[in-house]
Amino acid sequence: MTIATAIAHPNIALVKYWGKRDETLMLPAAGSLSLTLDAFPTTTTVRTSADLTADELVLNGETQTSDAFLRVTRFLDLVRGMAGSTAHAQVTSHNEAPTGAGLASSASGFAALAVAAAAAYGLDLDRAALSRLARRGSGSAARSLVDGVSVWHAGDGDDTSFAEPVDAPEMSMIIVTVDAAQKAVSSREAMRRSALTSPFYPAWVTSTELSLTAMLEACRDLDFSRIGRITETHAMRMHAVIQACDPPIRYLSPTSIAVFDAIAALRADGVEAYGTADAGPNVAVISRPADAARVAKALEPFGSVRIVGAGPGARLVSDGTGDGE
Ligand code: PMV
Repeated sequence: MTIATAIAHPNIALVKYWGKRDETLMLPAAGSLSLTLDAFPTTTTVRTSADLTADELVLNGETQTSDAFLRVTRFLDLVRGMAGSTAHAQVTSHNEAPTGAGLASSASGFAALAVAAAAAYGLDLDRAALSRLARRGSGSAARSLVDGVSVWHAGDGDDTSFAEPVDAPEMSMIIVTVDAAQKAVSSREAMRRSALTSPFYPAWVTSTELSLTAMLEACRDLDFSRIGRITETHAMRMHAVIQACDPPIRYLSPTSIAVFDAIAALRADGVEAYGTADAGPNVAVISRPADAARVAKALEPFGSVRIVGAGPGARLVSDGTGDGE
């Protein structure tokens, strides 16, 4: 029996991943860039044993048997294939973020699982290899292997599609949770529908590549204003692609829109804040650290507000010997 525990944090993309060019290998249609947070961690323990007759998944104290379980067991098959093992595993995972509400719990979930499962099955993988592995569970998880700001390269294929660190100015992120309920359409299904039915999808892919190039320049120049403008414009473009699906999908709620209006009002008042939103109604706002408290105060009427910053990439906290880091 071997046991390993890993901890990972979600990341929020400033240049979004939305669409796959290969669903099996989970290769993205374009590269993306994100901030790994210092909040809402997922802690996952993987225990492998020759005595188990099947995999097991306990998520936030509840045994899972349907979708979440199938995704995890398929992911474990991949790890077993790499390790040449047939042993089943017990996976226990605890998530501090509201699961499925657009706060990227799948990113921290699969990043933690990749690190814990690789260790439990005896694989010795570097960060790039762990990022590639996490990508197979959930694309955005590739970026949660990296501290702070990271770029996930679209790559030429499996070997070159991983995330790595990017130097960027210090930023705060204000997370406005307007609704913690599970989203109605999964990002996987909505990405597929976008590629198949949204007339804006080809333009989205081309413009994302341009946005990523511009964003990397802005990060290199430590140009917070430009980073912010690219972030908000890019998020609006993603939601436009999604809303143009047939049948349409709309993740932003009236409250989300009100948050974007409040952000615009802050900017008109001279406070630089810029918003983004994933596949859900919650809004993540970036600001300079000195402005974060003022931004948070202005957004309090719209939901629960939390100021977060750059956090660490996924890491092992204990392995088979029971030793901590
Ligand atoms: O990795 P997934 O399937 O959870 O997709 C994430 C998609 C977005 O969060 C909307 C964008 C992103 O780049 O994280």
